[in-house]
Amino acid sequence: MQPILTASQIKALDAYTIAHEPIVSIDLMERACRAFVAWFTERFNNSFTVGIVCGTGNNGGDGLGIARLLKEWGYPVRVWLVKGGAPESIDFKINLDRLKHLGGVQIDEITAAPECSIFSDEDILIDAIFGTGLSRPVEGVYTDVIACMNTARGTRVAVDLPSGFMADEPTTGPSVEARYTVSFQLPKLAFFFPSSFQYVGEWAVVDISLNKAFIRQAQTSHFFMDRNTARSLLRRRSKFDHKGNFGHALLVAGSLGKMGAAVLSARATLRSGVGLLTVHTPQAGISIVQTAVPEAMLSIDGHASVFAGAVQPERYTTIGIGPGLGKAPETVKAFHKLLENFPHPMVIDADALNILGENRELLHLVPKGSILTPHPKEFERLVGPWQNDFERLEKQKGLAAQLQSVVVLKGAFTSIAAPDGKTFFNPTGNPGMATGGSGDVLTGILTGLLAQRYDTLEGALLGVYLHGFAGDLGAWEKGMDSLIASDIVEFLSGAFARLGG
Ligand code: ACO
Repeated sequence: MQPILTASQIKALDAYTIAHEPIVSIDLMERACRAFVAWFTERFNNSFTVGIVCGTGNNGGDGLGIARLLKEWGYPVRVWLVKGGAPESIDFKINLDRLKHLGGVQIDEITAAPECSIFSDEDILIDAIFGTGLSRPVEGVYTDVIACMNTARGTRVAVDLPSGFMADEPTTGPSVEARYTVSFQLPKLAFFFPSSFQYVGEWAVVDISLNKAFIRQAQTSHFFMDRNTARSLLRRRSKFDHKGNFGHALLVAGSLGKMGAAVLSARATLRSGVGLLTVHTPQAGISIVQTAVPEAMLSIDGHASVFAGAVQPERYTTIGIGPGLGKAPETVKAFHKLLENFPHPMVIDADALNILGENRELLHLVPKGSILTPHPKEFERLVGPWQNDFERLEKQKGLAAQLQSVVVLKGAFTSIAAPDGKTFFNPTGNPGMATGGSGDVLTGILTGLLAQRYDTLEGALLGVYLHGFAGDLGAWEKGMDSLIASDIVEFLSGAFARLGG
């Protein structure tokens, strides 16, 4: 699991590495340049022309080092130095001398608004004006250069951060809009937000061996999940285990016309290792569920088409509720009653969340240790609107703390907020999963894991990871465009097997 540190913590990490390891700052910069170039040369061959736009701080120093290395690799390289008032760092000067000493690279200075056509010959524009040192929105000549870069035809690749982009607060000024960002050592918080994509594009983190002990001890509440952590959470079965060891889940899902949601959730619950599954269904769903999911037992509602009746909560270790449920007045009442009577953690999704959003006085009844799985619209119904993604994250943490539950906000890099304020971003999944029923599958997985008495946070981390991983396996096999929710269920076994194997 990677911690996500702030720009100032990363600055301190650079300084700590230099102070505690046998490396001076110019050599650390060289390591960063080499790591960038390793990433770059794997993707772009040296038939591409490369323009590198550098500031005068250490990010500019990185750009100059990269220029030298790419020149040595045989790329046609050109450099622009943007001089707009930022101080020249020592390592910038050293790398400028080294580049001049190598020779063969045209270096031009930009001190006033340029003609944007200066960049028109470049296939690739590397942005090394500002990195984590940016402390305020850019102005003056920096704004002009960034505007030109953003309209240039070349592919924009940012070094560490797009210039003008803030890692730890909303970006309000102009910023380079990169197609790729190659960042050093650790991902930055804003990379995980939807509003950042236009600036950061696809991002990669390259290792430059900054001090591991410092990273381990750094104070942060943000983390990036990884495969090893997911693997460590997955429990092994033992020889004498029997179905009684793996819990009994109840799914309250589906209504007339939406029984497919119940079927998808039920299949995913079963594929996640639950011992026994009961599906509570209105009468309209009886034959559908029994035929589609023969492994599930039924609890049959007195109502023909919606959830309206009572369930016997004492029989179940957890309840997953919401997919395809609808919001009929009878359903609202029945859900209210269930919340009052069920003592164990629940998985709450879809219309069950919408009911809570419309009846916020019920929120205090959510059992502690539950998992709520809103998508952004459902989340807004629960907490109201937000100004920017940083505020959205704070609202997510606030709801988790208020309910003493885990709030899973679905999307690219699904975020998982724990009651203690820690938030985890998930690496798996792909845009092919933006399809109806995908969330129902996640509800099923989480219900299956909670029924087996996984700790709430661990179950949420593992379940979200597996859901995305199954989606990735499905997309590799079938392509993103035609991926459907049933495929995610189908590939769930492969996800479990690969993670556990
Ligand atoms: N307008 C004008 N100038 C600005 C603005 C602005 N909006 N915002 C900030 N500046 C100035 C600041 O004065 C800043 O310098 P200061 O922090 O010394 O005051 C200057 O711009 C430089 O900005 P950056 O180049 O973004 O920042 P920095 O010099 O801290 O470098 C770094 C960032 C370390 C290069 C990081 O992005 C990176 O790539 N790290 C990889 C490792 C590496 O190369 N390390 C360098 C050697 S080790 C070390 O630096 C300790």
